[in-house]
Amino acid sequence: MTSAAKESLAILRAHGVEAPLDAAIVLGTGLSDLAARMSEPVVISYADLPGFPRPTVSGHAGRLVIGRHSGRRVAFLQGRGHYYEDGDPRAMAGAIETLAALGCGALVLTAAAGSLRSDLGPGDLMLIADHINLNGRNPLIGVHSDDRFVNMIDAYDPGLRAQLRAAALRLGLPLPEGVYMWFSGPSFETPAEVRMAGLLGADAVGMSVAPEVILARRLGLRVGAVSLITNHAAGYAGGAPTHDQTKAIAATGANALASLLDAFLEGIDTP
Ligand code: HPA
Repeated sequence: MTSAAKESLAILRAHGVEAPLDAAIVLGTGLSDLAARMSEPVVISYADLPGFPRPTVSGHAGRLVIGRHSGRRVAFLQGRGHYYEDGDPRAMAGAIETLAALGCGALVLTAAAGSLRSDLGPGDLMLIADHINLNGRNPLIGVHSDDRFVNMIDAYDPGLRAQLRAAALRLGLPLPEGVYMWFSGPSFETPAEVRMAGLLGADAVGMSVAPEVILARRLGLRVGAVSLITNHAAGYAGGAPTHDQTKAIAATGANALASLLDAFLEGIDTP
């Protein structure tokens, strides 16, 4: 374990965080409010947790909230670090390592994304089944041990995906699965890049998720990920994304995501 993660773990223990977590949920742009309904939360700013990111993006609060939610022990991460902020694909490494050290049954990532599908429009949810990373960046570059050769088959855990789909079914909420293609950002994609992404098999494009999944899989965490579609990707069906639109649609679509996460947590398998 890195010394930063050790220090963060000690700080969490000093705040009374002891029991393993049933799940940790990373809240993306505009989704931080989903953590508001925790009972007896312990709230710690990322600034007080060594190795955690220092979010620079509006819509990312930068706080860890741990407590009980839907009868489960849950950590919400309000905001994430992105590769595009400082060019570091390991922006979430310290946070993910700390969660793994704490003992965490499932890591669920949420993130805004642009859609390349006619049946997925602003406000809809997509369950990520797999990703494409052609960035040339990987958070495990520079790790000098054999565990860097992470198997990425079923990286998006089939069991968690089934639980998320079952939760959506109980709510009558459509949750189609799709492939997420990671672009570095922070500029949005060009229409030509979006056409390329579609030809390569992407259903949605976004600026996060993939490096976090790679980091988490190295540590053996089970991962699930849900995209909140905030727009059609640039040039697709008239898509012309802006960050303001991402934040505005994320805020309106957050209700559906909140319901999905509640239902997922209620139904989650606990050891
Ligand atoms: N592209 C990349 N990231 C995004 C988009 C998009 O169209 N929408 C929300 N996040």
